[in-house]
Amino acid sequence: AGRTPLIAGNWKMNLDHLQAVALVQKLHWSLKDAEHAADSVDVTVFPPFTDLRSVQTLVDADEIPFGVGAQDLSVHDSGAYTGEISGAFLAKLGCSSVIIGHSERREYHAEDDDVVAAKTRAALTHGLVPVICVGETAEDLEKHGASAVPIAQLEKALEPVASNAEIVVAYEPVWAIGSGQAATPEQAQDVCAKLRDVIREKMGDEAAASTRILYGGSVKSTNIATFMREPDIDGALVGGGSLKVDEFSSIIRFQK
Ligand code: G3H
Repeated sequence: AGRTPLIAGNWKMNLDHLQAVALVQKLHWSLKDAEHAADSVDVTVFPPFTDLRSVQTLVDADEIPFGVGAQDLSVHDSGAYTGEISGAFLAKLGCSSVIIGHSERREYHAEDDDVVAAKTRAALTHGLVPVICVGETAEDLEKHGASAVPIAQLEKALEPVASNAEIVVAYEPVWAIGSGQAATPEQAQDVCAKLRDVIREKMGDEAAASTRILYGGSVKSTNIATFMREPDIDGALVGGGSLKVDEFSSIIRFQK
C-alpha cells in the first residue's frame, strides 16, 4: 500500500552501552554484506536510555541508516521529576521516535490509557514519532475477543493527536510477547485492519493510508514473512529477536 516497511528492535532492559555499540556495528556489517539488501526497509533500534548516546554517536559517525528511539519518556518537559527523561532530551540526542504504552509499562508501571495519551502528546510536542503499543491480554482475549481492548486503547491514545501527525501503531497481543507463541498472521491482520479503521475515524483517510501498523509478539526470522504478506501489517516490533545479529538481520531481510 505504498508504506515503507518498518522493522523495530525493542531491546527492553538488555545490553549495556558497549554491548549496544557492538550489536549495532555488527548488524550494520551483516546487512551491508547481505545478498538481499534491505534498502526498502526502515530499521529503528530502541536501546535502554543509557545506551542512546553511544548508539547515536556510532550511527552518525558511520552513517548507519538506522533510526534510534527510546523505550519511554516522561509526560513532563522538565522539572522536579527525579528519574524521569524528557522528550526534549531525547530529541536533542537525535532520537527519532519513542515507544509508548508497551504492555510491560502498562503492567509493571501502572500506565493507563490517560498516561499513554499524555506521553503521546509529549512525544509529538518534541518532534518524536510515538510508537503507540496496544494489545489484549489472554484474559481480555477470552472475555472480549482480540480486537476490543486494542481498539479502545488506540482510541484513547489518539485523542491528543492531530490528523497530520506522524505516528506508528504497534499491535502486540500480550500473550504473544516473549512466549514463543505468535498470533497467526490472519488474527493479527484482522486486528490491524480494525486499528486502521480507528486511525481513519480519528485522523482521516490520509493518515489511515500512510500510518504504519506493526505486529509484535514472538516475531522471528522464520515467521516474519507471513506477517509482512498481510495488507495491514507494515512491519514488526521485535523484542528477543532483535538482540542477536544474525536473527535480527534475517528479520530485516525478510522476503515476501
Ligand atoms: O516490543 C516488543 C515485544 O514486546 C515483543 O517481544 O519479540 O520478545 O516477543 P518478543
